Amino acid sequence: MDALRAVERELAALPPLVTSWEIERLKSQLAEAAAGRRFLLQGGACAESFADCASDVLTNKLKILLQMSLVLTYGLKRRIIRVGRFAGQYAKPRSADVETRDGISLPSYRGDLVNGVEFTAETRKPDPLRLLRGYERSALTLNFIRALVEGGFADLHHPEYWDLEFVNHSSRAAEYQRIVESIGDSLRFMETLAGEQVGEISRVDFFTSHEGLHLPYEQAQTRQVPHRTGWYNLNNHFPWIGMRTAQVDGAHVEYFRGIRNPIAIKIGPGMTGEGLLDLLDALDPEGEPGRITLIHRLGHDRIADGLPPLIQAVRGAGRTVLWACDPMHGNTETLANGIKTRRFDNILSELDQAFDIHQEMGSYLGGVHLELSGDNVTECLGGASGLEEADLARAYKSQVDPRLNYEQALETAMLIARKMKRMSGA
Ligand code: PEP
Ligand code: CO
Repeated sequence: MDALRAVERELAALPPLVTSWEIERLKSQLAEAAAGRRFLLQGGACAESFADCASDVLTNKLKILLQMSLVLTYGLKRRIIRVGRFAGQYAKPRSADVETRDGISLPSYRGDLVNGVEFTAETRKPDPLRLLRGYERSALTLNFIRALVEGGFADLHHPEYWDLEFVNHSSRAAEYQRIVESIGDSLRFMETLAGEQVGEISRVDFFTSHEGLHLPYEQAQTRQVPHRTGWYNLNNHFPWIGMRTAQVDGAHVEYFRGIRNPIAIKIGPGMTGEGLLDLLDALDPEGEPGRITLIHRLGHDRIADGLPPLIQAVRGAGRTVLWACDPMHGNTETLANGIKTRRFDNILSELDQAFDIHQEMGSYLGGVHLELSGDNVTECLGGASGLEEADLARAYKSQVDPRLNYEQALETAMLIARKMKRMSGA
């Protein structure tokens, strides 16, 4: 306990990773998304590892998010808000406290912020010093991303910077190239009209997010800032409450109640309309625009029954929230050989139904939340290149949940773009 307190004190004295200006700017963008004028693209790893704080992993992740947002901008004709599950996604909720292998039981891996993944007693022991390592890795990650974005890497005039090695092998390559060319044409056209570079449109920014699970860590970097009232979590812009910790009388809701950041809540199949309204009353008593994003993750076979009553309840209470769909976490399954996977078809089916249900109910699905990798991993089954069970072993790198690989992620963006285009009658 003393060791933890010492680390908390150290964290509290270190500089913040983000500013309240950025947080407030994101909140107002999320408010526009809730009103149907923007779309949220939130994605990244299930669990970042300290070892993934590496140049190629980060640039590839940025590239796929940029490519997806380009496709979405084109198809949706709306501004995209880009939020990474990165620079701090280091703590994981686990359903079992212990893991048993060959008769040996050790504490479960809870994310690099808490313990190590290697199956030894020494590594699985929680170590408070990891909180400092996590803060430092977050800072390194953010520093690199900010430098890339500000240095012009994210400039829409140069999408060729984001081409991943295997874009050419993808069956989606031609479609992507068409989109890139068409955006280039529109940009040049607008610039000819305006007689200058369209700065605000051509430059894009990134916000950071992670599950606000480890309360001592989050709290140590929660501060007051000059000229504003209230408290801000300054280690990321947009923390979320995980499904397992969203109890209205729980510690996580109590902490999130007290911060001014925009926040998201993961909503699983057990949630009732009444329970949801209790949460909203606790977390957003004043109905502040942009404050709440509800990320439903119900599963392809439960969304048709589960989602309508939730939309109904929120509407009945006269509330406006941003709705986002996480089509990953309700569709996880374990194969006979013990490998955790997700079927691409089920992921797409949940997304597809989510768009339809919101539209039928006069609501707006304004975001997606995805677990993805910019690398060519083999963790989810299906997709254009038809990954099968036997392929999973080839490049299964996730330490927790299976992610979409580069091609599956791009394909998802294209399907969303096409779906929304059709829905708007375009
Ligand atoms: C996650 O986002 O990795 C996660 C654990 O999600 P959920 O809380 O929705 O299960
Ligand atoms: Co996950």
